Amino acid sequence: EGITVIDHPLVQHKLTIMRDKETSTASFRGLLREISTLLCYEVTRNLQLTTVRIETPMTTIDAPTLEGKKLVFASILRAGNGLLEGMLDLVPAARVAHVGIYRDHETLQPVEYYFKAPEDLADRLVIVVDPMLATANSAIAAIEKLKERGARNIRFLCLLAAPEGIERFRAAHPDVEIFTAAIDSHLNEKGYIVPGLGDAGDRMYG
Ligand code: PRP
Repeated sequence: EGITVIDHPLVQHKLTIMRDKETSTASFRGLLREISTLLCYEVTRNLQLTTVRIETPMTTIDAPTLEGKKLVFASILRAGNGLLEGMLDLVPAARVAHVGIYRDHETLQPVEYYFKAPEDLADRLVIVVDPMLATANSAIAAIEKLKERGARNIRFLCLLAAPEGIERFRAAHPDVEIFTAAIDSHLNEKGYIVPGLGDAGDRMYG
């Protein structure tokens, strides 16, 4: 209820390589981009369609087309950008919001440092992306900010989620469905997901 685990074999295979600590920065980045197109495919699976009248070389038909305004992808910096690029490969017309938040390493509290989003969030589906849902502090704060700016129809997409984070996220934003490639075991004392894949931002950017 409220959470979808994307268990497609290609997603699971790529995720395993990403978890391996021997995987290089270059490979990690490439895999994240590949996996994000697959995740994007699943998170957009039930989008509403309408029809548009077109002329094929043979005849005139009412053919399916996406209903409503263009999607917004909201990337939680920095690591969210790793998911964002692959998503834009699949939905090149999407609008993009950037939300700069990092976790204070001591307190694990979210620190906001940047926010820029399209004006008309209220009329659009907003898909928030970040590879990791650990304590969920970052995602909860980012979505609060997007809601303040009018977003009403929101989904959250990540690669790995910890049970502790899922519970806190559900309590804070029960209206936001979570899509993840895996639900891991737990958080360690430093707030890292176990078994996890380490710090996604560091593995991507150093
Ligand atoms: C990581 C990750 C999430 C956040 C998850 O970002 O990308 O944004 O931590 O943790 P939480 O659920 O406990 O808030 P980090 O703070 O390392 O910033 P970075 O992406 O800029 O490296």
